[in-house]
Amino acid sequence: MPTLDEYLEANGKRFEQELFALLRIPSVSAISAHKKDVCDAAAWVLRQFQSLGFAAEVVETDGHPIVYAESPQVAGAPTVLVYGHYDVQPPDPLGEWISPPFEPTVRDGNLYARGATDDKGQMFTHIKSAEAWIKTAGHLPLNLKYLIEGEEEVGSANLDTFIDQHRKRLACDVIVISDTSQFAPGRPAITYGLKGIAYFELRLTGPSQDLHSGVFGGSVVNPANALARMLTELIDERGRVQLPGFYDAVVPISDDERAAMRKLEFDEGDFMRQIGVDAVGGEEGYTTLERRWARPTCDINGLTSGYQGEGAKTVLPARASAKFSFRLVPDQDPAQVATSLRSMLTRLCPRGIKMELISFHGAPGVVVPLSSPYMAAASRAIRAGFGREPVFIREGGSIPVVSTFHEKLGVDTLLLGWGLNDDNTHSPNEKFCLADFHRGIKASAHLWAEIGKMTR
Ligand code: BES
Ligand code: MN
Ligand code: MN
Repeated sequence: MPTLDEYLEANGKRFEQELFALLRIPSVSAISAHKKDVCDAAAWVLRQFQSLGFAAEVVETDGHPIVYAESPQVAGAPTVLVYGHYDVQPPDPLGEWISPPFEPTVRDGNLYARGATDDKGQMFTHIKSAEAWIKTAGHLPLNLKYLIEGEEEVGSANLDTFIDQHRKRLACDVIVISDTSQFAPGRPAITYGLKGIAYFELRLTGPSQDLHSGVFGGSVVNPANALARMLTELIDERGRVQLPGFYDAVVPISDDERAAMRKLEFDEGDFMRQIGVDAVGGEEGYTTLERRWARPTCDINGLTSGYQGEGAKTVLPARASAKFSFRLVPDQDPAQVATSLRSMLTRLCPRGIKMELISFHGAPGVVVPLSSPYMAAASRAIRAGFGREPVFIREGGSIPVVSTFHEKLGVDTLLLGWGLNDDNTHSPNEKFCLADFHRGIKASAHLWAEIGKMTR
C-alpha cells in the first residue's frame, strides 16, 4: 500500500484531469438558461462521493440542488462538516478571457477557468484528500459530512431551510470551508473573520417616457439626477457611511488586533500595482488592511439610466436605477441596515419621483475564535501541506452560511483558503495555482489526521 503522500504524488495529474471535467460544466447559478448545467454539476459531484463509497444524495430545493454525503461511520471519532459550492458566477465580460471560461487551460502553472478557485477547485481538494485516505489506509481517521450547494453565488436562499430540516444529520464538531485566500503567494492563512452583506437595488421613475432634455429639462425632476444626489448622500467625503445608526453596533478593531494586522507584511505599492490604481482610498483613520477586513463599507455595484449608445443624445431619462451593497462587520444587523436605508432614501427622494427599493440577500459578518484546538490542528495541517505556518487574517468577502452554521448548529468554522488575492474571482481569467491545488489536498489530508487524533 502506498503512503498517503505517495498516493497524492502518483495521482496528482488525474486529480487535475477530474477537476477540468467539473470546470467544463458551466454551472452558472444566476442564469436560468444554465439550470441543466447546474444539475449536471451536482450529479458530477454526487458521483465523486459515490465512487468513494459514501452515502450520498442530491437533495432538490426550491432553487438549485444540494449535494449531501457522509463517509462510512468511524465510531467514537470526531465529525467534520465540509461546506463548499459547485455553482459559479457568470463569466462576463466574455471578450476579456484569454482562454474561454469553460475550457480549463493551464498557463504558467495556473489553471484558468470560471470556478477554478471559487469554489470548484478548492472544494475538490477535500474530496481528493478523502479519496487518498480511503485508497491508502482503507478508511478515514474521522467522520466526514459534505454539504456542497449550488446557490452560494446567488445568496444561498434555500440553504437555511435545508439546515433547519437536517439539524440532527448535520451535527458535527467543527466545520471546514476552503473558499477564501492565502495572505500572499507562499504565505498560507487561516481566515478568522468575514464580512457580512446587505444588497439593494434602488429604482427611480420620473416621467412616463424619455423626454427631450431641452424642452423639459429643469422643469421636470430627472430620475438620473435624483439618483446621483441620493447615492452621494450614502457616504461622506471621509468615507463614512451616512445611514443613521450604521456604526452603532460595529465592534471596533482592538489595539491588539490592529497591532497584529500591522505586523503582516503588506506592501501597499504592490497592492496598488496589482489592481492598477495610483492611490488607495477609504474610511479616514484606517489602514488598507483594516478597511478591507474589519470596517464596514458601501459600494455601488451597477448604475443604469439614459442613453448609453454612441455619440451624444439629449434626453431626460424616464428611469434610473442602481444596485449597491454594504459589507458589514460584527455586530451589525443586515435587517437593521435595510430599515435605516429605506427611511433615509424615502426622506431623500424628491417629489415627482417614484421610488422602489428592493432588498436582496443579507448576512451578518463573522469572527471566529482563534483559540480553539481545531485552529491549532488546522495550523499543523497547513504547515504540512504548504511547508509554512499560516498567518491569521480576516477577509472582506462574505460566505453567508458561516453565521447560519453558528446560529443553527452552534458550531464554528475553519476558513482554510487555498486561493490567492489575484485569482480574479468573479472576473475574467479566474485562475487557481495548480501547486496550491495539490498543497491544499495535502493540507486537507493532514487535517483529517490531526482532527482524527483529537478526543471529543
Ligand atoms: N468565495 C466567495 C467569498 C469570499 C471571497 C470570501 C473572497 C473571502 C474572500 C464567495 O463565493 C462569494 O463570492 N460570496 C459572495 C456572497 C454573496 C453572493 C452573498 C460575496 O462575497 O460577494
Ligand atoms: Mn466562493
Ligand atoms: Mn464567489
